[in-house]
Amino acid sequence: MPEVHLKLPHHQYVIHVRAGLLAELGALVRAVVPHDRAAILADQQVLPRHGQAAKQSLEQAGYSVVVQSVAAGENHKNLQAVAALYGTLVEHHMERKSPIFALGGGVIGDTAGFVAATYLRGVPFVQVPTTLLAMVDASVGGKVGVNLPQGKNLVGAFHQPQLVAIDTDTLRTLPAREFRGGLAECVKHGVIRDEQLFNWIDDHLDAILALDSASLVELVRWNVRIKANVVMADEKETGERAHLNFGHTFGHAIEAVQTYGASDGYSHGEAVALGMVAATRLAVNARRCDASVLDRLIRLLDRLSLPTSAKNLPPTDALLASMQLDKKVASGKVRLILPDRMGAVSIVGDTPASAIVAAWNSLRTS
Ligand code: GLY
Repeated sequence: MPEVHLKLPHHQYVIHVRAGLLAELGALVRAVVPHDRAAILADQQVLPRHGQAAKQSLEQAGYSVVVQSVAAGENHKNLQAVAALYGTLVEHHMERKSPIFALGGGVIGDTAGFVAATYLRGVPFVQVPTTLLAMVDASVGGKVGVNLPQGKNLVGAFHQPQLVAIDTDTLRTLPAREFRGGLAECVKHGVIRDEQLFNWIDDHLDAILALDSASLVELVRWNVRIKANVVMADEKETGERAHLNFGHTFGHAIEAVQTYGASDGYSHGEAVALGMVAATRLAVNARRCDASVLDRLIRLLDRLSLPTSAKNLPPTDALLASMQLDKKVASGKVRLILPDRMGAVSIVGDTPASAIVAAWNSLRTS
């Protein structure tokens, strides 16, 4: 299977997906962004595991490398972290052509990417995602940014990377709960675009959960190809890129109300799993799609040990209020992504509040 090429009118890049790719990182990058120095901004938990391999590979390719550890977690994705990183880059004389690497999950990719988008009005950026969530979603497509105290991702930019380098071996050290959370986004891609992918995940779940090397490469490549196709059709989210938000309007509300990063709360992937169930049930109730889509979705999420109902969901009025604050609300209306059938969704902007309330309440178990 070939590598994935993401082609935009102003820029194109390759998303490499292989087991053991970190060892080739320097050679791959040298061909695209040659320079004498580089900065690796690395998640502090990922640095001890993969920092040395990335640094060594870049040094062998002739870069002098600065490595900066960055605090992990959504509550560190903020402008204070960005300011500290600018300081590191200035101190080490990073220039307009010095590439910046994001090594870690979505938080580090978004933060380092925002730094790369703005430092010296923009420098080359390379994504090296090490979580499944970042591999199949956040690292592809150029969305970068940080949170404000008032809400998630309220400051940001589109800054496409020069290259995305995905080493599927890094998934071997990922905590199981995070891996399953990433699988929620893979299931999402199946529902919004590709019934075959949905069925393939179902058929190969044992191999995927056993971290079979070939299955991981195929899973990530397939999902990256779907994400890249959506971004190529609509880079700036004026239309179909919003399909990627399937399950996220409900999911973000859960995350926001329980406050981001709460250690005892739902993870992003878990909140998205609940959100996909709520959105699909709403679509079934509105007779927009067949009930079999909901049954298949719940069955697969159950097999993944992702939540499909909730005992301890926050109060519905708080969840509804949070949905209204979501930055994807247009002219005061909540826009939902609802399935038409397995593999196809629509953007729906006129859902009555009563239907949304019913969808929230249907998630509750006593
Ligand atoms: N994660 C949604 C997007 O990239 O548009």
